[in-house]
Amino acid sequence: MFGKRDSDGGGLKRKGQAAPTPVQTAPQPGEPEPTAPQQSSQPVRVENPAQAAEQVKKVVEAPKVRPPKPQEPVKPVVVETRSEEYYRTKSNIYNALIDTIDLGQLAQLDPGEAREEIGDIVREIIAIKNVVLSIAEQEKLLQDICNDVLGYGPLEPLLERDDIADIMVNGAGQVFIEVEGKVQLTNVRFRDNSQLMNICQRIVSQVGRRVDESSPICDARLADGSRVNVISNPLSIDGPALTIRKFKKDKLTMNNLVEFKSISPEGAKVLSIIGASRCNVLISGGTGSGKTTLLNCMTAFIEEDERVITCEDAAELQLQQPHVVRLETRPPNLEGSGEITMRDLVRNCLRMRPERIIVGEVRGPEAFDLLQAMNTGHDGSMGTLHANTPREALSRLESMITMGGFNLPSRTIREMICGSIDVIIQAARLRDGSRRITHITEVLGMEGDVVITQDLFVYEVEGEDADGKILGRHKSTGIARPAFWDRARYYGREGELAAALDAAAD
Ligand SMILES: Nc1ncnc2c1ncn2[C@@H]1O[C@H](COP(=O)(O)OP(=O)(O)OP(=O)(O)O)[C@@H](O)[C@H]1O
Ligand SMILES: [Mg+2]
Repeated sequence: MFGKRDSDGGGLKRKGQAAPTPVQTAPQPGEPEPTAPQQSSQPVRVENPAQAAEQVKKVVEAPKVRPPKPQEPVKPVVVETRSEEYYRTKSNIYNALIDTIDLGQLAQLDPGEAREEIGDIVREIIAIKNVVLSIAEQEKLLQDICNDVLGYGPLEPLLERDDIADIMVNGAGQVFIEVEGKVQLTNVRFRDNSQLMNICQRIVSQVGRRVDESSPICDARLADGSRVNVISNPLSIDGPALTIRKFKKDKLTMNNLVEFKSISPEGAKVLSIIGASRCNVLISGGTGSGKTTLLNCMTAFIEEDERVITCEDAAELQLQQPHVVRLETRPPNLEGSGEITMRDLVRNCLRMRPERIIVGEVRGPEAFDLLQAMNTGHDGSMGTLHANTPREALSRLESMITMGGFNLPSRTIREMICGSIDVIIQAARLRDGSRRITHITEVLGMEGDVVITQDLFVYEVEGEDADGKILGRHKSTGIARPAFWDRARYYGREGELAAALDAAAD
């Protein structure tokens, strides 16, 4: 009915505008793999020879990169200011407490009562052992011991902070965090691997799972929605590895992304129109590049009266609409049965009368079902996948379907992809830790066996400032009438679309 599905696939172009980029979903033999996500795949526009020479120079010259600094030993970020002496005292008192207290009975109490009970006993132990501590030190010690017995021990101060994106524990002695896109070593540590393992156990038992030598890999969720993965010995050699993707209480919005310069205001406007015009969208990006965040932002443009079904491995999305059904996959139980895969969920969705289907992450044969859904009246469906460029996203989608055992010729799969996906949005985490939307790309159609795409916006790296921050800008490629124009018109958004594209081209 709309856009490329009925049109000839090409939008109107400005004078001197670049031609659509043909994309082969599978790289051809001998062809180099694309590497730099920030490079536009559009040819350079040439208006006069001097300018042409300048532009060629710009393309050929690599962005100015400062020479690498000599390696310095990594200093841990101080999260807790505790001395060795403090840890020894705490360990002493903790052991005495565990000998005294009945943990079974403690578990029956509510958290407030349990803290009071522990407080009374700890004060008694301090008095009996004649430990000299100020009131403030005593309070700090009590808080830490309560965290160890009732909560997540040394992780508590990290879990309380909303500026941390990830917590990565590599055995008892090493805890890293990611703040503002940068991974930093902290001085937080566990008493030993068995304390760490107990805490992992406590986390996963809350969602009815278990982690031990017989099932050493486990996914779980904290009560606040944070996503957790544990892998323990014998698979993890230097002690249990615990990874937590912190759940942001205040999810980022498209306005936040504009504020952080992840996208230009005009780019954000075009994304809002893409969302509201029910384009089928694929969000592509590397690990931690901001795919789920971007998907969440895109869902903000869904109308309130649409029935939306979300399928995720661990529910991370926070849709604000009233009519949303949230589904989550289930891993197999200890006997290896009872697994519900993403494919099962997506297929079941189709029997639930959805208007839009949102798939948290496409990583297997569910790609086929999602494309079918997009192609059969569930316009405005969305999903994310791991890929470094829009072009790679298309070939990953194709290989997921091929590897899913569908016996389809490559051309048929590509035709299916072209008939389903309208727009690919590429997210990237740059080397300075900042996150950027590097491409907004349309899938136009096929030319022979080749999928044709057209970039609407690209992010171009221009260099680096004195602090190592990457400098760059979002550039419109000058497309005045994208292939989803008819859709935008149907939803009454063509005026806004034209205005945003004009503003971006200036
Ligand atoms: N544009 C942005 N600017 C700043 N921080 C961001 C931006 N986008 C995402 N983040 C933060 O980065 C972290 C990772 O984001 P997100 O979970 O969306 O990544 P992802 O690509 O889905 O990761 P994964 O591959 O692990 O699923 C989150 O803490 C999020 O708040
Ligand atoms: Mg994600």
